[in-house]
Amino acid sequence: MFDKFDVTVIGSGPGGYVCAIRLAQLGLKTACIDSRTKPGGTCLNIGCIPSKNLLNISENFSKAKNFEKSGIEIGELKLNLSKIMQNKDKAIDTLTKGVAFLLKKNKVTFFNGVGSFKSKNTISILNSNKSEKIIQTNNTIICTGSEPVSLPGINFDEKKILSSTGALSLNSVPKKMIIIGAGYIGLEMGSVWSRLGSEVHVVEFLDHITPGMDREISDEFMKILKKQGIIFHLNSKVETIKKNDSEVIVNFSEKNGNKNTLNSDVVLISVGRRAYTDKLNLKKIGVNLDQKGRIKVDKNFKTNISNIYAIGDVIDGPMLAHKAEEEGIAVAELISGKAGHVNYDIIPGVIYTSPEVASVGKTEEQLKKNNVNYKVGKFPFTANSRAKAIDEPLGFVKMLADSKTDRVLGVHIIGPHAGELIAEMTLAMEFGASSEDIARTCHAHPTFSEAIKESALSVEKRQIHS
Ligand code: FAD
Ligand code: NAI
Repeated sequence: MFDKFDVTVIGSGPGGYVCAIRLAQLGLKTACIDSRTKPGGTCLNIGCIPSKNLLNISENFSKAKNFEKSGIEIGELKLNLSKIMQNKDKAIDTLTKGVAFLLKKNKVTFFNGVGSFKSKNTISILNSNKSEKIIQTNNTIICTGSEPVSLPGINFDEKKILSSTGALSLNSVPKKMIIIGAGYIGLEMGSVWSRLGSEVHVVEFLDHITPGMDREISDEFMKILKKQGIIFHLNSKVETIKKNDSEVIVNFSEKNGNKNTLNSDVVLISVGRRAYTDKLNLKKIGVNLDQKGRIKVDKNFKTNISNIYAIGDVIDGPMLAHKAEEEGIAVAELISGKAGHVNYDIIPGVIYTSPEVASVGKTEEQLKKNNVNYKVGKFPFTANSRAKAIDEPLGFVKMLADSKTDRVLGVHIIGPHAGELIAEMTLAMEFGASSEDIARTCHAHPTFSEAIKESALSVEKRQIHS
């Protein structure tokens, strides 16, 4: 007899493990399968966590170079990259063990192996020793995430031609690094290696970085990154990437027809990620995919097969850990007969560079495109006392509010701790706040959050400190 479960979750990333825990909390007998021995998915093993660890260490290193200016004399600074990598691996280990503990605590049965459908109610789990276990399930939730995309004909070797995974594990600091794509991964990993000593070149197809971000913020972001030493090649299309024993050669052409060549020790290709469904055997059971290879679901995360659902990076929407988590909770609640729901209009996004960049809601470009009348409030960190006191006065807060109702429609921040500040605005927007609500809310002094209050005041041109 096969083990039988109410629900099987394939994938233990932030979508899968959160979903499995919520299902178990709701009283359903739950299995969670992952081909990785350590649960936590891309996010914990090769994504959010290791990248934020390296961003933090490299930022400390870069700040320490300037300690002398503020009166702290520490002598010659040295980098021990292997210790840095060990420290990063320790963070991954601690957090993945934490997820394993939570699954166990909630009585979720974790299986290590590749999950694939034998039928819509039968799942095979093949582990690395090639031993197969079969389980029966009433419902299945596919949370198999995504994988990096390369350029046509180029394979990642993770030594010279890197995806984010290779860029998180280099064993020496490259003298020169070329990054293709000025999105989340390119700019976070570019910041890491630039701070650790690499000459970083970013080649971007468009005429601006971070597509989709409010353009004013994006332009300011690029200005700041340039000052930090990152070199940008915009409007540039990569044509070939060749490698030999000592270097990688990238040929690209600019929009104006100019041809360019850059040589470097390594190249990071960060031009996006695609849904990963390779080993699930979806064809056999007839689960429909969309044109981009993502699993097609309805508003309740249900595929065209009635007992199979999908969430996270493997479906449409922003490829973000917290989006996957929200969907994980929602689908668990829907399967249990509750009213699960995700508000896609209010999903924050954060880039963990220095300064951080964070946003929630609509950009100015989107409001214009949708013919929405809006007011803009702005406040620079140069006028924020906390930012001035600690000498981190870069960036600004931008608030967009409906001209008629004053409801906040979008908030965009580039500045210190923007990733934490955005939470206040996310909550405010969930409650339908107006800019006046925020302007009349008491904010502690001296804090970075006062810049948010001032940006709200600035919507009616009544800011005090600028
Ligand atoms: P995943 O986390 O990808 O998990 C899917 C899991 O399913 C994997 O463990 C995989 O091994 C497993 N799997 C796949 N197929 C099978 C199968 N057939 N059988 C068994 N197991 C299978 N997002 C943020 O919000 N903030 C960040 O700071 C951030 N930083 C990132 C940094 C990097 C370098 C990268 C690459 C991504 C980052 N992301 C970040 C994105 C984030 O990691 C993803 O959005 C998130 O992990 C998606 O969660 P998921 O549960 O859908 O899938
Ligand atoms: P991305 O979609 O963020 O950026 C890709 C960039 O590459 C874009 O600027 C695009 O215009 C450019 N591009 C595409 N094709 C190109 C080409 N042929 N030549 C030159 N440029 C090209 O993708 P990225 O950085 O790979 O990240 C994938 C996803 O992972 C992100 O979209 C995000 O969802 C997630 N992520 C989130 C993070 C966070 O929340 N802090 C951090 C890292 C990743």
